[in-house]
Amino acid sequence: MATLITGGTGYIGSHTIVELLKDDRDIVVMDNFSNSKPVVLDRLFEITGKKVEFYKADLLDTDSMEAIFKKHDIDSCIHFAGFKAVGESVQKPLMYYHNNVTGTLKLCELLSKYNAKKIVFSSSATVYGKPKCVPIEENFPLSTENPYGETKLMIERILSDLYRSDNDWSVTILRYFNPAGAHISGRIGEDPKGIPNNLMPYITQVAQGRLPHLNIFGNDYNTHDGTGVRDYIHITDLAEAHLKALDYALNNTGVEHFNVGTGIGYSVLDIVHAYEEATGRKIPYKMAPRRPGDIDECYANPSKANTILGWTAKKNLVDMCRDADRWQTNNPMGYDE
Ligand code: WQD
Repeated sequence: MATLITGGTGYIGSHTIVELLKDDRDIVVMDNFSNSKPVVLDRLFEITGKKVEFYKADLLDTDSMEAIFKKHDIDSCIHFAGFKAVGESVQKPLMYYHNNVTGTLKLCELLSKYNAKKIVFSSSATVYGKPKCVPIEENFPLSTENPYGETKLMIERILSDLYRSDNDWSVTILRYFNPAGAHISGRIGEDPKGIPNNLMPYITQVAQGRLPHLNIFGNDYNTHDGTGVRDYIHITDLAEAHLKALDYALNNTGVEHFNVGTGIGYSVLDIVHAYEEATGRKIPYKMAPRRPGDIDECYANPSKANTILGWTAKKNLVDMCRDADRWQTNNPMGYDE
């Protein structure tokens, strides 16, 4: 019985595959390379010594997806595939709703048809919107500020309705906080298209001299130093959480949501200083106006994942900075040769 990994050559998917292969899990991987590159598969072989069973397919192309189910005995799925750029989702909402929501509906139809009713879904802390307080708990009110976040919230609700209609389903929803860092080998990492939206890849490109300086979006937030506070979690810790979530999904039915974070909030300036200390590199920055939609503070109470999944983040901020820097140093242009 195999687990289908959708979006497996992306940042989080590729790091999760490393841990799944290390644990000798039986997996089948698909991606359409809309936000990743085939070379990631070579890097996965380099790191693990194992060749991934891979299909270039698209969630919206049911024939390409069904061919996988016909060839492999799929019993479960870790669903990463989806567009994830907040700003782009505001500009192109229909593209986001079609790709993320319709794509998931088509996937679930196949999972149901082939009796593979065990799914781990890649959600996001963005579904909490502006939280009433921190640390955030899974039962906090949900609201979203952009179409990307709306697709995550819609899919969470679709999966809950699916379970309500058929109690054979097992739905484990992981709400990621801020993934950062890279595999310790430096051979896979975060490779955003164009100018990075997220803080850590922007910093690594400043460190490499690809960008002149960091713009810090706002220093008048209600935080200890005025800059935005987030819960940064090492990508390898996040990857390991998926193995625990898959085991949970395989051994239970029902719907459970888990915050996947460290429970520690760091400000933008904290990250800058930690990066400089961890790597010895200078990160020049300038204060800039707030980014629309940003919130003051967002960090998790991860105790539900700690107790029920038996998972706790182990790596710290120095690890995230050093590993991110190693990836960017080894791959100045990301996966572009
Ligand atoms: C972090 C902090 C910025 C860039 C987003 C999505 C979320 C998830 C993670 C997908 C904030 C500040 C950033 C920069 C800056 N993505 N910043 N200068 O916004 O918390 O979350 O990415 O699942 O859904 O919303 O992450 O890294 O963009 O920002 O000052 O050039 O860094 O203001 O305080 P964010 P981020």
